[in-house]
Amino acid sequence: MNQALTLAFDVYGTLIDTHGVIIALEKHVGNTAAEFSQMWRDKQLEYSFRRGLMKNYETFAVCTSNALDFTCDYFKAPFTQQDKNDLLEMYRVLPAFEDVKAGLVRSQEADFGLFAFSNGSADAIEMLLTNAHIRDFFLDVVSVDEIKSFKPNPDVYNHFMKRAASVSTNTWMISSNPFDVIGAVSSGLRAAWVKRSPDAIFDPWGIEPTLTVNGLSELAVNINKYLNENPI
Ligand code: LAC
Repeated sequence: MNQALTLAFDVYGTLIDTHGVIIALEKHVGNTAAEFSQMWRDKQLEYSFRRGLMKNYETFAVCTSNALDFTCDYFKAPFTQQDKNDLLEMYRVLPAFEDVKAGLVRSQEADFGLFAFSNGSADAIEMLLTNAHIRDFFLDVVSVDEIKSFKPNPDVYNHFMKRAASVSTNTWMISSNPFDVIGAVSSGLRAAWVKRSPDAIFDPWGIEPTLTVNGLSELAVNINKYLNENPI
């Protein structure tokens, strides 16, 4: 294996589709399910950012649960506690995006060292990846829970490199989440933005992804092309 290149795959929103709950949500909130799901996701991330800044850490699962409570209140949705528990249970077995398996196969064939690197706790990530039948592609799961903070704190990207025994110039963050791409680049890593939708917008901060790909299937070939054109 080419240990020289390490890929850190973000999980929620990149490997795993957080909007996989939309059909279940439709039962409760009808045609506002997509909007509900987006607010739930946005609040979950906001709560992780705020907890990181406040140094008041709780797991990502707590951020997810608190965000669900907020979103139910916002939508005045008639959820019982049992409905909420069922949704949170579903969140533990969300599906992978369609292009994920092919992308991981190609990245493995390219001899990159693959890791999952997430805000989620290790047990939650192990369960998600196992349920989606993609756990075996990864050398390890690295969770921010190990240092009790969240992306995009530079400490968590540095922690990842320590755990993966990699250096910044050879470490790529692979993420659909612009805040994660910007966080990684700002910490000195390379980063590929996975822009599955043509409508996805990258934050206009002037900190650009090293590469942008439309899906994971074209990731490995694009990284190799980049490396040929920009030798380290
Ligand atoms: C993760 C968040 C960014 O999996 O969704 O780390």
